[in-house]
Amino acid sequence: MDEPYLAGPDTYALPSHVPVPGVGNLLVNAFVLRSEEPVLIDTGLGTDSPEFLDAVDSIVPLSQLKWIWLTHDDADHTGSIQKVLERAPQAKLATHGMAALRMASWFPLPLDRVHALQFDDSLHVGDRTLRALRPPTFDNPMSIGLFDEAKGTLFSVDSFGALLPEVTQNAFDIPMEDLTQGMVAWGTFDAPWMHVVDLDRFEAVLDGVRRLDPARVLSSHLPAAEGNLKHFLEVLRSLRDADPAVPPNHEAFAQLAALIQNASEAPAAT
Ligand SMILES: [Fe+2]
Ligand SMILES: [Fe+2]
Repeated sequence: MDEPYLAGPDTYALPSHVPVPGVGNLLVNAFVLRSEEPVLIDTGLGTDSPEFLDAVDSIVPLSQLKWIWLTHDDADHTGSIQKVLERAPQAKLATHGMAALRMASWFPLPLDRVHALQFDDSLHVGDRTLRALRPPTFDNPMSIGLFDEAKGTLFSVDSFGALLPEVTQNAFDIPMEDLTQGMVAWGTFDAPWMHVVDLDRFEAVLDGVRRLDPARVLSSHLPAAEGNLKHFLEVLRSLRDADPAVPPNHEAFAQLAALIQNASEAPAAT
């Protein structure tokens, strides 16, 4: 797990990253929103669990956490979900109802703690309202992002993610050309349906984001990004005509696995 940082007003990013040799780094963020009723957005990678729980606890004591907003039930978002539910007994789980039911098929999820969300719902968290929304691109039909209306922060789930040449805390510390390439690489992989969308209809989806006029975009797979929304929307639109992502064949995967294995066995640099 990487160092937590302030990603926007009242908002901390809890980042981790997975190096993919020859491809780049996949950043995986959860967030803590220090609203009057504190909210944890997603629960990181399972491999980071002890550090992740300590990091959350250092920002908002787990015993005081009121909400866990789970954007979807993919493994890179649910890593510590069971442990957070145990350590934060007051917290309700705000998520897509079907995501809750699917999770209940792999661990004993207390369904009475679930607050089922629909798109456009408002969740009041004391001093502000969080609006549930469908992110413009997604890899899971249960994906529900949110907009913090008080601070103009859009939590965009997997949308606007990128495969990164380096891990930073500010997306614009990465050269724009590398950032754009990385967003296209991620977007074609994460939303493999983009090449079949109707562009006019997709434009209406992008208009919805434009109307929100977010001050910053916090993606699960991008460093914090303040500004440049116009360019980000153009990148999403470009996915329609980008080459679809192709998964590695068996031979390429075996080479990749060997590189990952070697990297994990290499002595740490001093
Ligand atoms: Fe996902
Ligand atoms: Fe993800």
